[in-house]
Amino acid sequence: MPAKVVLGAQWGDEGKAKIVDFLAAQAEVVVRFQGGANAGHTVIVAGETHIFHALPVGVLNDNTTCVIANGVVLDPESLFAELDELASRGRTVQPGELWVSSCAHVVMPYHRALDRASEAHLGSGAIGTTARGIGPAYRDKVDRSHAFRVMDLLDPDLPIALRAAVASKNQILTAIYGAEPLDAEEIIRGALAHAERLRPFVTDTSVYLNKALDEGKTLLFEGAQGTLLDIDHGTYPFVTSSNTTAGGACTGSGVGPTRINEIIGVTKAYMTRVGNGPFPTELHDDEGERIRELGHEYGATTGRARRCGWFDATIARMSSRVNGLTGLAVTRLDILDTVEHLKLCTAYKYGDQVLEEFPADPRVLAKCEPIYEEIDGWCAPTTEARSVAELPPKAMAYVRRIAELSRTPVAYISVGPDRDETITV
Ligand code: IMP
Ligand code: MG
Repeated sequence: MPAKVVLGAQWGDEGKAKIVDFLAAQAEVVVRFQGGANAGHTVIVAGETHIFHALPVGVLNDNTTCVIANGVVLDPESLFAELDELASRGRTVQPGELWVSSCAHVVMPYHRALDRASEAHLGSGAIGTTARGIGPAYRDKVDRSHAFRVMDLLDPDLPIALRAAVASKNQILTAIYGAEPLDAEEIIRGALAHAERLRPFVTDTSVYLNKALDEGKTLLFEGAQGTLLDIDHGTYPFVTSSNTTAGGACTGSGVGPTRINEIIGVTKAYMTRVGNGPFPTELHDDEGERIRELGHEYGATTGRARRCGWFDATIARMSSRVNGLTGLAVTRLDILDTVEHLKLCTAYKYGDQVLEEFPADPRVLAKCEPIYEEIDGWCAPTTEARSVAELPPKAMAYVRRIAELSRTPVAYISVGPDRDETITV
């Protein structure tokens, strides 16, 4: 696997981190290419839980180099908090083990303030963001007037540019949102301290990654969020601000599409969503509550209860199409071990039409009814299985049906949170 992308095929929280961690043993480099500290990537190794927001999951492996590439919006505060937390657990990450792109954009304290203020302002129309400043940071990247890349953080003229940026953001915070202004000098002091700590980790990561490929190294691209949160292909406007889909791995890293070999879409055996926006197979009854409790479906970044529902193959087909998936990783199969009757959504009923393809228009989606296929549960434990042969036949039939409806082969099955609880198909 010279270059493999692992990304979310649903609304995030599919268990990408667990699959990346499992595959990282065979990878020399793990790359984050989009998003930022809105991600909550949970990995459990030998019973110990690690949650990453800014760092690539590969950081747990001593032999893996981690890269935060140009497409990420980097929050230095979050990055250093995570590095300090890891150091307190005995893992000190040295320069050379982690590279940060000089082209990555920086999340500033005013981005977080603007995220909160804008959500409060939207009221009942709020997106339900993670309040990590992700949208405002990407907005500044596209806007180009007051944006800071990592290279600008290292520039001696930083204080002048940052003072002007804070003045402009304070106008927006106070005049439009009625929020408190921020202290420019405090933000400048923080940024200068972050710059010095960041300096030894900074490089041109596109050059580094392409050279690594030239040398025959294996790369793993770690997606954040999921396909339905993609700014172009997701359930707009209830999406994140980056391209979470496969193309994002290329634009977000400076590695060309011809160098990517495999694209794995991670998908839960059911579905969840945090934040607002459409969710056709959402369960509003005891069944949904039961799945939430069985799966401990609460957000790793915000602690919010996740909305739960049945697996939706309309969405899986869309994911496979826009990402060009070469394989699926079906996760959290074990959560369904005690559920007697399962449902799979095969398509949508829209008026008197049957829609096989996920509609891009939310007005159409709002009128769609899921068409369900009912399947018997296997009512047996799956967590001990380490091969397809060891899975209850009905559990494997369920997974095969997911693959068939998704038009994508299954490559991995996850039957528990631990690294070992994984089946390679
Ligand atoms: P933002 O990325 O914080 O701007 O939030 C936009 C939308 O993406 C909201 O619905 C969030 O709940 C969702 N979101 C952002 N990051 C994640 C994630 O890592 N997992 C699941 N949902 C996420
Ligand atoms: Mg998550």
